[in-house]
Amino acid sequence: NADRAVDLAIFGALGDLARGRLWPALYQLDREGLLARSTRLLGLSRHESDTDDFRRKIVGLLEDGLNGDERDAESLERFAARLEYRRLDFTRPDDYAAIARWRQELRGEGSNARPLVVYMAVGAALYGDVCAGLERGGALGEHDRVVVEKPVGHDLASSHAVNDAVGAVFPESRTYRIDHYLGKETVQNLIALRFANPLFGNQWNQNHISHVEITVAETAGIEGRFGYFDGAGQLRDMVQNHLLQLLCLIAMEPPSSLDADAIRDEKVKVLKALKPLTQEALEQDVVRGQYIAGTRDGQPVPGYREEDGADSASHTETFVALKTEVANWRWAGVPFYLRTGKRLPEKRSRIVIHFRQQPHYIFDPDQRSLAANKLIIRLQPDEGIALQVLTKDSGLEKGMRLRPGPLHLDFNSAFPEARIPDAYERLLLEVMKGRQYLFVRRDEVEYAWRWCEQLLDHWQALDTPPRRYPAGSWGPVASIAMITRDGRSWYEEY
Ligand code: BG6
Repeated sequence: NADRAVDLAIFGALGDLARGRLWPALYQLDREGLLARSTRLLGLSRHESDTDDFRRKIVGLLEDGLNGDERDAESLERFAARLEYRRLDFTRPDDYAAIARWRQELRGEGSNARPLVVYMAVGAALYGDVCAGLERGGALGEHDRVVVEKPVGHDLASSHAVNDAVGAVFPESRTYRIDHYLGKETVQNLIALRFANPLFGNQWNQNHISHVEITVAETAGIEGRFGYFDGAGQLRDMVQNHLLQLLCLIAMEPPSSLDADAIRDEKVKVLKALKPLTQEALEQDVVRGQYIAGTRDGQPVPGYREEDGADSASHTETFVALKTEVANWRWAGVPFYLRTGKRLPEKRSRIVIHFRQQPHYIFDPDQRSLAANKLIIRLQPDEGIALQVLTKDSGLEKGMRLRPGPLHLDFNSAFPEARIPDAYERLLLEVMKGRQYLFVRRDEVEYAWRWCEQLLDHWQALDTPPRRYPAGSWGPVASIAMITRDGRSWYEEY
C-alpha cells in the first residue's frame, strides 16, 4: 500500500458530511486493508474535544451507523488508533501552527514525510481561510493535496473567487474537486459501457439515438438542512454538478486514454457545446417546482415552506426538469431530458438511452410505439443495466405480436462476491493514490456555472414562485407536459 501512504486532515471533522460519509468510508477502506499502515487521520473542528474523546465519538458513530456485518471490534480498534483530534478556529491564522506541530510529531516518530491530504468538509466560504491558514502556519509541503466539496461557489463569479483562493495555495494538479456521483460504481460503468463495447460505441450518436433521459429522484426532503438548501436550491445542489456530470459522461467524445485530463478535456467540450436556452426555451423547456405537503411511504410530510426553520415565502426550487441539447455533430437534434427533485415517490437514479425505431416497420401498427430499443442504466438502487428489446409474444393465438422485455445485468447478482463500495470510499482511495480522473477540473465547474446562470438569471428576473407539487408525486404536471409535447413520456419502470 506504499503508493497511498498519506496522512489526512479533515476540516469539519464532526459535521454532517464527515460523520455521515467520510469516517464510515475511511473505516471501510481500513477494514479492507486499503489504507497504508502508516496513515494517520487528523480530525479538526471548533468543538471542545481531545483525541480520546474524539476516538470514542467516531467509534460510537460507526457502531451505531453500520450493520453488524459491516464492522468488527478488532478493525474498529485499529481504526481508532489512527485518529487524532485538534480543536481549531478555522478563521484564526495562529491556530494552524497546531497542524505543523502534529506533522512534526509524526516525523519525530520516525515516519518518512508523507503527503498530507487536506479535506474541506466545511462550507466553501471557508476554503480560502483554511488554505491561507495552512500555508501561513507552515503546515504544507510540496506534495500535499486538497479535496474540496461541491458546491464550489453559488454562481460563476463566486466560483472564480473560491477557485482563486484555493489555487493560490494548491496548484490544479493537487486539487481534487469532489462530485460524489463520479465515484458511483454504475457511473464509472458508463465509461466501460461506451468505450469497451463496440455494440454501443458504434450506435452512440444522433443517427441511432432519439433522446436521452436522466432522472435523479429522491424521497428525502430537506432533512434539517434548510439553512444551506434555501440559499442553493435544486439547480445548484444537483443539476450544476451531478446531473451535468452524468450528461458529460454520456455525451463526451471518446477520450484518447483514461488519463485525467484526456477525460476532462472531453467533458469540458460537452459543457461548452450545451445549447444556450432561448427565451422561449426558458419558458417552455425548464420547469421548477417546490413541494407542498403530501406523503412519504404513506405517512404525511410537511411542505417545503413548513419544514423546520423554513422561510414561509421561499421561492427556492426543490425540483427541476429541463430539456437541453448538445450542439455538435454527434448529438445535433437529440434532446436530453433531465429531472431531479426532493420528495419524489422513490429514490431512484436512472439514465435511459432511447434508440431510434427501424426505418421500415412490418408488425402490428398498434404496437408501433413499442418498437424501439432502450438502454436503461440504473445508478441506484439495484445497480445494473438493462437493454429493452422486442421479442415475439409466446402463445399460439398471438401471431407476430411483440413483447418488450429486458436483457438484464444486475451487478449484485452477477458479481455476488463483490461489495459495491460507497462513492466516497472510491474517491478517497483515488485521492490517496494521487489520481485525478474522477475529480472535476476548475474549467468544468466554471462552464457548468456559466450554463446554469441562464436559468438562475431568468428565475430571478421572473420573481414568481416555483410550481407546486405534492410531496410523494413525480413533480409539477408541467414537467410531464414538457416531454409529452414532444410526443414522448418519462420512462416508467415495469
Ligand atoms: C448531495 C446533495 O450532493 O447529493 C444532496 O447535496 C443530495 O441534497 C445528495 O441528497 C444525493 O446523493 P445520493 O448519493 O444519495 O444520490
